[in-house]
Amino acid sequence: MLKIGIVGCGFIGGQICRAIEHGEVGMELYALYDATEEKALTLVSSLETCRPAYMELEKLVEGVDLVVECASQTAVRSILPVALKAGCDVMVLSVGAFADRELREEIFELARTHNCKLYFPSGAVVGIDGLNSASAAEIFRVTLTTRKPPRGLSGAPFVLEHGIELEKLEEDTLIFKGSAAEAVRAFPANVNVAATISLAGIGFERTEVRIIAAPGLSRNVHEISVEGAFGKFTTRVENLPSPENPRTSYLAALSAVSTLKKLANPIKVGT
Ligand SMILES: NC(=O)c1ccc[n+]([C@@H]2O[C@H](COP(=O)([O-])OP(=O)(O)OC[C@H]3O[C@@H](n4cnc5c(N)ncnc54)[C@H](O)[C@@H]3O)[C@@H](O)[C@H]2O)c1
Repeated sequence: MLKIGIVGCGFIGGQICRAIEHGEVGMELYALYDATEEKALTLVSSLETCRPAYMELEKLVEGVDLVVECASQTAVRSILPVALKAGCDVMVLSVGAFADRELREEIFELARTHNCKLYFPSGAVVGIDGLNSASAAEIFRVTLTTRKPPRGLSGAPFVLEHGIELEKLEEDTLIFKGSAAEAVRAFPANVNVAATISLAGIGFERTEVRIIAAPGLSRNVHEISVEGAFGKFTTRVENLPSPENPRTSYLAALSAVSTLKKLANPIKVGT
């Protein structure tokens, strides 16, 4: 059985622990780490049958086969080099950190040098399976259209720089159009989906992103359109926020659990 260590004991970390405890994922939950020790200890004590140890990162990576990063983009910078140098595979949730080309190249190189695998779950979006299949031949165009309630975009550098008065919008308004690389700088808190699509498809410079502020909308809606040698497809997801962390879509946690299940299962369906 693979031994796993979870870094980040918030909503997604908690969902993974409970899935392992309920026998949905055939892995041993070996250890937990969180920058706030109390969060990890609270999670440990909420589990009934699993008793993972709380460990500092340096110790955790010595005992596990797979590290799950479900903490923050900052954590990616500090955690991944330590885990990869220790020979651990890593599953990454804070994918937005990979928009930084320098960091991306450094981490990919470490994974190659240490013969480790990096897993990026689909997260809050649907269609990564089709995009993966399509990338086996030429892809001409990938477009992500994200619709969010205006409050979900407030405080973003692009909104502040352009003086966009989100609260005054009365109808769906296209507020940003550009490459994924530009979107990541303009809306750094909304980058995970754009980053996952860019990594799976044609990269940050060629992936097109449109962000629409939609008053009256209560869910985050992501549409991906892909055109390539295979033909074209469009996917659309309307995400419910998770009950514990409204910034995280419930689907993102389910996708993390599902990726672990797939890793542990000898039978794998889907690309
Ligand atoms: N891939 C996707 O589509 C997708 C979707 C939703 C969320 N996410 C990302 O997944 C991550 C986890 O989401 P969540 O809802 O569980 O968040 P959360 O805020 O509920 O939990 C994060 C936990 O990580 C801890 N943490 C933060 N920085 C840390 C560090 N440097 N080292 C150790 N622990 C640290 C925090 O104390 C907290 O307990 C976030 O970065 C979020 O942006 C990705």
